[in-house]
Amino acid sequence: MTTLIRNPDYSKAESWKIFDTIYRRYDLLNAILSFGLDKNWRHKLLKFVPAKPDVKLLDLATGTSDVAITLVQNCDNIKSAIGIDLSENMLHLGREKITNLNLSNRISLQKGDATQLSFLNDEFDMATMSFGIRNVENPMFVLKEIYRVLRTNGRAVILEFSLPKNIAIKFFYLIYLKICVPLLGGLISGNFKAYIYLNRTIEKFPYGEMFIRMMKQCGFKNVSAQSLMLGVATIYVGEKS
Ligand SMILES: C[S@@+](CC[C@H](N)C(=O)[O-])C[C@H]1O[C@@H](n2cnc3c(N)ncnc32)[C@H](O)[C@@H]1O
Repeated sequence: MTTLIRNPDYSKAESWKIFDTIYRRYDLLNAILSFGLDKNWRHKLLKFVPAKPDVKLLDLATGTSDVAITLVQNCDNIKSAIGIDLSENMLHLGREKITNLNLSNRISLQKGDATQLSFLNDEFDMATMSFGIRNVENPMFVLKEIYRVLRTNGRAVILEFSLPKNIAIKFFYLIYLKICVPLLGGLISGNFKAYIYLNRTIEKFPYGEMFIRMMKQCGFKNVSAQSLMLGVATIYVGEKS
């Protein structure tokens, strides 16, 4: 256990492999570890859906497809959504949900790398990525790809974990991240290493002002950030110039 804590040997380029092993309990653990807030956070993305007809949505690192499902179920103006992910097992669970909800005519899932999208330039009106960008080697590659595939004025909406500003809250949150998350995540998923790795990606992610700067560097305009639950997560929004 101590060795694992010191050396959770996953490289970010292969982080999707973690999800290929923990997929069965992924949704359950999300709900438990976020005290049910993950669902509420995904709902907060609804207000950023462009107010125009026939919106074409791309959801990167879609996982089991909760973001695409939430947005499509609640927004009639989303004509189609494509979810991409590198983990076939996560996609498989997503496809089951989509079929059970009769949404196959509006959402499709495909295997794909967020750092190297297979789509043409200017194809989408909105691109979302929730809890995915901290898992890639270079977030700038993803931001540049999102920018490329969005239409002019298309919207990028990124939900990711961050750290609270308040020092006392941050202290307790870090204890929760370093101790409770690996312990609970490990016990329930059977993969301690995965949850040690995942909480480290939260600590190391360039959140807040740094991420806003990265979005601006990639060309996004009207960039803003909305912090959720005392700063535990943040929604970043930007538009293609
Ligand atoms: C924490 S999950 C988030 C899933 C989902 N968006 C959600 O909100 O629950 C991160 C996802 O990123 C995927 N992933 C990691 N690296 C990726 C990459 N380079 N391209 C596409 N997906 C990737 C993983 O397979 C995993 O499904």
